[in-house]
Amino acid sequence: MEKKFKRTLVTTALPYANGPVHIGHLAGVYVPADIYTRYLRMRGCDVIMVGGSDEHGVPITLRARKESITPQQVVDRYHTIIKDSLEELGISFDIYSRTTSELHHQTASEFFRRLYDNGEFTVQTALQPYDEKTNEFLADRYVVGTCPRCGNENAYGDQCEACGSSLNVTDLINPRSALTGEPVKMRETTHWYLPLDKWEPNLREWILENHKEWKTNVYGQCKSWLDAGLQPRAVSRDLNWGVPVPVEGAEGKVLYVWFDAPIGYISNTKELLPDSWEKYWKDPESRIVNFIGKDNIVFHCIVFPSMLMAYGDNFQLPYNVPANEFLNLEGDKISTSRNWAVWLHEYLREFPGKQDVLRYVLTANAPETKDNDFTWADFQARNNNELVAILGNFVNRAVVLTHKYFGGIVPECGELSDTDHEIFAELSDIKVALSDALDSFHFREALKQAMEIARLGNRYLQETEPWKLAKTDMTRTATILNVALQLCANLAIAFEPFIPFSSARLSKMLGLGKLNWDMLGRSDLVITGNVIAPAELLFEKIEDSDVQTQVQKLLDTKKANETAAWKAEPQADTIEFDTFMSSDLRVGTVLECEKVPKADKLLRFLIDDGLEKRTIVSGIAKYYKPEDLIGKQVCFIANLAPRKLKGIVSEGMILSAVNSDGAIVLITPSAPVAPGAKIG
Ligand code: MF3
Ligand code: ZN
Repeated sequence: MEKKFKRTLVTTALPYANGPVHIGHLAGVYVPADIYTRYLRMRGCDVIMVGGSDEHGVPITLRARKESITPQQVVDRYHTIIKDSLEELGISFDIYSRTTSELHHQTASEFFRRLYDNGEFTVQTALQPYDEKTNEFLADRYVVGTCPRCGNENAYGDQCEACGSSLNVTDLINPRSALTGEPVKMRETTHWYLPLDKWEPNLREWILENHKEWKTNVYGQCKSWLDAGLQPRAVSRDLNWGVPVPVEGAEGKVLYVWFDAPIGYISNTKELLPDSWEKYWKDPESRIVNFIGKDNIVFHCIVFPSMLMAYGDNFQLPYNVPANEFLNLEGDKISTSRNWAVWLHEYLREFPGKQDVLRYVLTANAPETKDNDFTWADFQARNNNELVAILGNFVNRAVVLTHKYFGGIVPECGELSDTDHEIFAELSDIKVALSDALDSFHFREALKQAMEIARLGNRYLQETEPWKLAKTDMTRTATILNVALQLCANLAIAFEPFIPFSSARLSKMLGLGKLNWDMLGRSDLVITGNVIAPAELLFEKIEDSDVQTQVQKLLDTKKANETAAWKAEPQADTIEFDTFMSSDLRVGTVLECEKVPKADKLLRFLIDDGLEKRTIVSGIAKYYKPEDLIGKQVCFIANLAPRKLKGIVSEGMILSAVNSDGAIVLITPSAPVAPGAKIG
């Protein structure tokens, strides 16, 4: 039996407000956190879920520079989009705030000051890149130069995007400022460091000894960090956006974003419960659970806990940090900068009323133990084959049959047969498995268990066939439909944490009152004699065309990215004017055009060149239909020595351009001209 807790604080990683949230954020953090919180609420636990936007740090300032707006404008825009879209998805935050709030600045500032006063920091001086034109220190991302590995001239100070190597500013050849292009000078700067090594023994005991039950990905990452030995970490930066370092002589310095952001969890709790926030953080009978993605593990398991220990004052360390792996999209890593994502605010607009479908799919396919892939085909299949065909179908059958045979009045439950008893026995097993899975953060498994109830219901109706019995035995039919309706009510409870909108509709259809977890498994939830609402479909099929639209959108993104990454070839060697003039370029009109047999690239043209008719063979068959070209005008080199292609003598060459994606585009005059007209 696990330890009982008086209350639970659920935190969700604060998303950077430099873009909207996408399905990766949802699957990794917000959907599982919401499932867990809703489940605890249903169990009557004292639980709060806090979140907010991470509004400091270099990612925000980069975005602002790119769009020529202020960092404040960036975060105002994205905070609103993020907050509204998460709310619309039914992520039931008790508070969703932001790290630019006054209260957060105060809280983070005070936190730093206490560590500073207690001598918890060391001070180190190091060389940092500096832009002498703008008079500021440059974050690694703001330095560009030549990659020592692949020669890419636009590698960043922390990473080369061409070859993927991670770099230090000092690795770059000819480092220059991304702001001004000026060569970068190194200058001395002083920062405060938190000696993580001081906390290493405590961390070892806390995680490696006392939390062996944590997810293996989390435990493993912590172990390898600890085994490698911890180093002091800088907690301040030279930047003009963030929480100012509250120490004299620290002008132009702010708290490192990873120092202030997790304190956001504390500020948010304070903002929500000004008078009672402390008990969620400081009472050992409180349970703190941090939902995060795998790239955040070290900050939540090593850095922030060290900060809390350094602060003292009874701050509790998390009970669990159920970090997820990454969700990919159609086989590629999700990327905000490459626009390779399904954005939540766009999904909500394009699939109105289908919040639960996304919640369901992201849970069924959650990257709990390894990276997973979101595909639109899977999205459609899970909706059509699971939500519609299993869950929706069962509820619909039970409700429709009740209307058909009993005018929508919940029929009386007679004596239960062996089959009925078995159904309720299975239901109670499912309840145990479902609750266990939720308690241990196995949300995919939990969802599977909930779906088992619907499968059970379908099987029950299939076996008992009330539509046949209704002709001979109304008493038994009444019992069967009563049992089926009880299963429907159980579905409304079991699915509430996962798909709350559908659960609410189902609950309303059945005339149920407030649901709680203890009710799960009961056989008397729908009351005999009550009238239920007419059947309405909980889910509808998603058509191929809806999915194709989404796939096309992604293909367009891919194409746009390829075009953006495309670079024109370097210019060829210089030629003399006469050399150019020696080529005879002309316009001609296409008289005939057909595919060359047994050559899938070639087209044979017959061209009116103003003097006679000439044959030219051209390798553009993949890009043009011959019949579309007849009558068109093309440009060609007239005095090229004839050559044989597939047995045909080609007298010249038709001019075309090769596009960024490799496609060939014919060059044509912008207005009709006489055949044989010279080009030059
Ligand atoms: N903004 C960070 C990210 O997206 C997460 C911050 S989590 C917090 O990776 F703990 F710092 F708040
Ligand atoms: Zn490189």
